[in-house]
This record gives sequence, C-alpha cells and structure tokens, in this order.
Amino acid sequence: MSDIASLPTGSRQRQGSNIGQPMTRRDGILKVTGSATYAADNNPEGLMHAVLATATIARGKVTRLDVEAARAHPGVVEVMTPENRPPLATDPDEKTNPFAFRLDALQNDGVRYAGQPIAVVVAKTLEAAVEGAALLRPSYETEAARVDLEGESFVAEIVGPGAPGRAASGDFDAAFASAAKHIEATYDTPPQYHNAMEPHSIVVRWEGDSLSIDMPTQGLAMAVGRTAELFGISPEKIHIRSPFLGGGFGSKGLAAGPQVLGILAAKLVGAPVKLVLTRQQMYGPVGHRGQTRQTVKLGMGEDGRLAAIEHHTLTSTSRFDDFLEPASNVTHSLYAAPAIRTTHAGSRIDIGTPMFMRAPGEAPGSAALESAIDEAAFAAGMDPLDFRLLNYAEVEPISGKPFSSKALRECYERGAARFGWSKRPQAPRSMRDGEGRLLGWGVGTATFPAIMFQAEARAVIRADGSGLMEIGAHDMGQGAWTALHQIAADGLGLSMDEVEFRSGSSDLPNAGIAGGSGHTATAGTALHGAGEDVIARLTELAVNDEASPLYGAGNVGVVARNGRLVRQDDESRGEPYAAILKRAGLAEIEGRGQSAADPAAQERYAMDAHGAVFAEVAVDPNLGQIRVTRLVGAFAAGRVINPRMVESQYYGGMIWGLSFALHEEAVHDKRTGRIMNANLAEYRVPVNADVPSLEAILVHEDDPHVNALGVKGVGEIGITGTVGAIANAIWHATGVRVRRFPIGLADLLGGTPDVSDKGV
Ligand code: MOS
Repeated sequence: MSDIASLPTGSRQRQGSNIGQPMTRRDGILKVTGSATYAADNNPEGLMHAVLATATIARGKVTRLDVEAARAHPGVVEVMTPENRPPLATDPDEKTNPFAFRLDALQNDGVRYAGQPIAVVVAKTLEAAVEGAALLRPSYETEAARVDLEGESFVAEIVGPGAPGRAASGDFDAAFASAAKHIEATYDTPPQYHNAMEPHSIVVRWEGDSLSIDMPTQGLAMAVGRTAELFGISPEKIHIRSPFLGGGFGSKGLAAGPQVLGILAAKLVGAPVKLVLTRQQMYGPVGHRGQTRQTVKLGMGEDGRLAAIEHHTLTSTSRFDDFLEPASNVTHSLYAAPAIRTTHAGSRIDIGTPMFMRAPGEAPGSAALESAIDEAAFAAGMDPLDFRLLNYAEVEPISGKPFSSKALRECYERGAARFGWSKRPQAPRSMRDGEGRLLGWGVGTATFPAIMFQAEARAVIRADGSGLMEIGAHDMGQGAWTALHQIAADGLGLSMDEVEFRSGSSDLPNAGIAGGSGHTATAGTALHGAGEDVIARLTELAVNDEASPLYGAGNVGVVARNGRLVRQDDESRGEPYAAILKRAGLAEIEGRGQSAADPAAQERYAMDAHGAVFAEVAVDPNLGQIRVTRLVGAFAAGRVINPRMVESQYYGGMIWGLSFALHEEAVHDKRTGRIMNANLAEYRVPVNADVPSLEAILVHEDDPHVNALGVKGVGEIGITGTVGAIANAIWHATGVRVRRFPIGLADLLGGTPDVSDKGV
C-alpha cells in the first residue's frame, strides 16, 4: 500500500485489498454441491411442461399437424399452433430496433429453416409433452432449400450489430499493384453452432398481466425490454431472474424465440410453464456463427514491409434477417499498412439467422488474416514473429488513432520466451518428436476491442458499517459474481465479507449486457462509481460535523480504508463509517454510479486488448492425425481484477480456438437443408485429452483512458490468435497449407505441400 500517495487521485479508491487478488469463485461451492439454481431447476406449483415441435424441412410451409392425435394423449393439456397462439402486441418479425432480431413465434405456417419451431405441446409431464410432439406428424409443402455459400450474394454495408461493412484508408489498388510481392489466399470457415452446457430454457408464470420469469440471459434489461414490447406490457411488470448461466457466448444475449414461445404457452394454458431446449433444438432458433469465405490480399516490399492489405468476407445469413459475421474488420487494427480495404458480402440461405458467437468477427477474421500473414512471412523469407514485429501497428492503421494502451510487443516477448520460439527452424517439415511425428510451431496475434455499455449500480453503507452493492449483472460462468464483488468491496473500502453483493435479477440496476467482453468494464465501472458516490456522501457528513475527527478535512482529502474514513495525509486520523452514520442518525446512506463509453476518449483513441498465441502441433506422418501438444498465450487487457478468473477466461478462449481450428463444424445436408450433426457426439468439440498443455500469461498493462478502472475485456480474445497459430503450426509441421477450417487429417493427406511433394 506504500505507493498509494503517488497514484493520481482517481485511482485511490480502487487500491483496496480486493482488486487484483486471485479470489476463488464466490459461487463455486454452490455449483459443486449442486445447490446453484439454474433456470430449469425452478418448479413452481402447478408447473406444466412445454416441448417444441420443430420443422424437418428447411423451406416451405406446414400444411397439416395432427393436433387431434396429440390432444388425445392423456397427459397432453394443449397444443399451441399459429391458429390458437395468443396474440402478440408486436409482430416478432417487426424490426423495432437493430437488436430486435426476428423471432419464430408461430406467427404463421411458414418454415424458413430446419429446426424452426412449428408447434408447442404443453403437458402435465415432460414425457407426455415429448410424446405429444411426436404425434403431430407434420405434413409440408416443401420448396428447394439452399444452405451453402454458392450462388447470389449482396454487398453488405452493415455487419454484426451495426458495424460498417466497408472501410478503407489509402489507395489499396495502387499500393497493391506497385508492391514487390503479393499474397492472395481464400480461407473457408464453417457454420458453428452454440453448445453452451446449459441449453436455452425458461420457467414462466403469469400473475394477472405481470410476468415472473426464470431464464438464463446475458442481458436482463434487453430481455425485459423485448418481452415488454412483444407482450404489450410495461417493463415494470416483468421480473426476470438469471442468477446463473451455464454459458452464454452470445446466444443468450437477446430473448430467443423459444423463450417467447414458453411465455405464450403459459398464457395459453393459464399455468406456469417450463420449456427447455434439447441439444438438437439448439441448432437453428438460437443463433450460430455464419460460415465465411474470406479472401485476403497482401502486398509488400522486398523487405517484407506491408504496403497494402485487403480483406473481403463472404458470409451466410438467413433469408429473413440480417446478421452478418463482421470478419474483415479485424484487419482495421492489427497490422500497419498505408493502404487497407475491408469489404463484406452476404449470401441469403435457408438457415436460422446467424448471431453473436464468442468473438464474432474477430474469431474467423483473425483465423484468415493470421494465416495470410504467415504465408506472407514465408514468402518474404522471414520468421513469422519477426514479420509481425516489422509490421507492428504503432497506431490503429485504418484510422491513424493512437491506441489507449497496447502492450502487444510485451505479449510477443513474454509468450515467445516461455514457448522457446527462438529455437524455431525457418523451414517447414524440419522437426520431429521422439515418436517420429512431424512437429510444427506457429504464432498468431490476438486482438479484441475494449467495449463499454451503459450500466447503473447502487451502493449502500448501513448503520453497522457493512455495505450493500446492487447491480443486475450476469454470471455466465466467467466469474462475474466474484470479480464484480471484488470491485464492489474496494469501492466501499470494505472486505468482500463485509459487502453483500446482489446480482442476477432484473429488479436491480441495469448492468447492460454481458457481451462484447465488456461486462467487467461496464458493470465494474458503475460499481466503482457507486462506491465513490456513497463514500463522497459519507465524507460530506464527516467533514462538516464538528464532532468528527475529520472535521474540516475536506481540503486535504479523505479516503475509505477498511470500514473507516481517514485523512489522506495521515491515515491514522479518522473514524468508522458506523460512527458517522450514528451521529447523523441515519440507518444507511446510499450512492449511485453509472458507466458508459466516453465518446471523447473513443474519438481520440483506438481501444483494444491484444495478445500473442504460440502453438505446437505434432502430426502423424502416415495418418495425418493432428495433435496440439502445447499452447502458450500472452495477453494484455488492461487492469486485471482477478488473475485466477482472467487466466480461466484465456484458457476457455484458447480451447475454443483449438476447437475452431481442428474440431467444430456443422454439416448441412444439401438435399434437405438439415444439419446432419446436431448433437455433441458428432458436432465435435475438444475434450481434456485434446488439450495436454495450456498456459496463459497475464501481461501488465496500464490504460488511463479506457474507463475509470482501466479494465479491458478478457472473455473473447483467447479464441482470436489461437486459430491462426494452430493452422500455422500445422503448415510448419507438414508444409501443407490448409485454407479451410476445421483442419483434419483428410486435408493433409490430400493436400499439396508448398515445399515438398511427399505429402504428409
Ligand atoms: Mo459475446 S459473442 O459478445 O456474448
């Protein structure tokens, strides 16, 4: 604590004993003992079970459902179809704001993707509802569906949730044409589907025209808003509880169609209803990562210095809405080049609308860019890390803005040192392990923007000197409960045990959305502000009270320490919170905090987290089987609130990167438009045996501009550098450059080595 006096004033409050500590999860015991209540664990009195019936065609309409057969089942209470579905106040196809994605809530008999809900069966038991749904035996009028990227496309001016689809700096065409060396390569990434451990669910009870809901959500306030709009009731009448999520990853950011159907079903039957998606039903109505085909063009000088970068993405979206994976935009910030051009095109196909999925844009975008950079480094005859350092962006290339902070160079250094990168031979196919497997080393740069949303928080100091902090934040498994509680305690100058932390419910102050890796920054800044506010109010009482040892200390400054207010110039002089409140005759004192992105800072600075990921792979030369044997990531993302949680986020991101590189792919049957592997047996994700050695290095970074806490985000960045690092390591091991993901042994056996004609 000896460095307190040298810190700028705004930093003092947060230098308590909690921020920066590797606290274990506050919710850990609840989870390992099974006493954490997830949405589907709620069973209100009189509960009925709702089960979706979903379309087995990808395009057309439902011509018949055997509703009578389902109704005749002794356990079935009601079958909801477009004919008897209660009315909604707003058409679920109406685009009331850019985040109001079109939902399938039985508005008509149309089918626009395989897996779309076409009816809901409500029964006294889950088993009866499942049987009832099977009895519906739908008939269809089927139209030919298209589920691949071939065919018509359109220029996309807007991508993701409102980002520009096109951007340019400099004259790409001229710079590319006059460059000494050129790389042009096209990379394919597949559709990927959300597979959070906890599927989407809802337990809902109507009380008159009020709604009581348990459902997992990454955005309580947004879910309340959309529900209010759809049902034509005021937001105050909706209470959503979401204390725990078994993963969100972007799919639980907005109210999903099946959850709206649960609310409708409860209305129809006049009883509480539980609706839980099966694993298979996750493949369609709750978002996914659209497939991409990305073309990267790099022009460079003889010395390897980049002169021109173009990144074009063709990506799939649905026929009825407009989410486009913003994959090209990662090129705005990563490498310096006088001319940069990014573009996107969309292709409408018969699938559910793609949506946010961990590191939307950056994950597939950096997979392509990092592969292309590796190809360029080899063409330039350079080590891929040296090539990246040569083309290091000192300012954001597309805008020329300085970065608010950027410790990427340190990430490269720390990661390379830990990995042993300096021993890497330049030529591919030049290392073997003890079993004769080909070894390869690859590197990828990680990046993700530092995003802030709007949030509010409430802080209270009670008569006994204890504290309360309230914010409707979301713990998706990432540790928000813990990290935000740490910030709350420091904001109040108390230990965590002295602060009650309330979260995860829509009747608490709006915490914004737990997405865009911005939750700790957003909710944390609001909590920090609320702490400052209540301490300022308490200080006001003390310094104006002649009976206080702090009387008149307003000019020297007063700080909060361990439940006391003390003079800044002499921390031995002060008094406990409880004494101040007692003399003032107050039972408690309250403060409020807010957070939002600072437009002036955003105008001046580019704000991003960065990292470097190093991968080692071993490839069986006869079978082409690929193993990632080591992953080392070094990341800089501003202030670290809890190093244990942050490390865990990096691990999760890197494992997902490995999954992207080698495992995940939804396979469509082109004849029917259906997904052929909508289950966790065939939609492959890594298991522990796939991840033998994983290290995350937390690189120190101070950022005075990004927000009051100096926090960036850590949730998504881990996936971004990892995919390219693994692809590049596979090339280094084998000499085969695979330009489609996931990379499998078939790609290696059929591949054409760049440097050898021997195959793998
Ligand atoms: Mo994330 S894809 O912003 O939940």
